[in-house]
Amino acid sequence: MLLCTGPSCCTPEAGQAAWEALKQQIKERGLAAGDNACFRTKVGCLRVCCQGPMLVVYPEGAWYRGMTAERIPEFVQQHLVEGQPVAEQVFACNPLTADRP
Ligand code: FES
Repeated sequence: MLLCTGPSCCTPEAGQAAWEALKQQIKERGLAAGDNACFRTKVGCLRVCCQGPMLVVYPEGAWYRGMTAERIPEFVQQHLVEGQPVAEQVFACNPLTADRP
């Protein structure tokens, strides 16, 4: 997962709050290590630059907008634990596939 913490798509404060929530949720749900580990990093820009914080999840290629700290718990439970993207927040999908050059 790549989470943009602003400053153009959201304020740095909102981005940092989302980042802290994401780290906390991953840790609390046991997704920080092991067979189901979900790796995350924060980035300075994903070239969308509106309606952030922006989040992209691979290999599904699910692009999320408006991923505030308040929305992170639902995202972690529904997408990362249950495997179902949160459709209301996904605005684009560009999955990685094995047959791409
Ligand atoms: S600053 Fe977040 S997408 Fe550009």
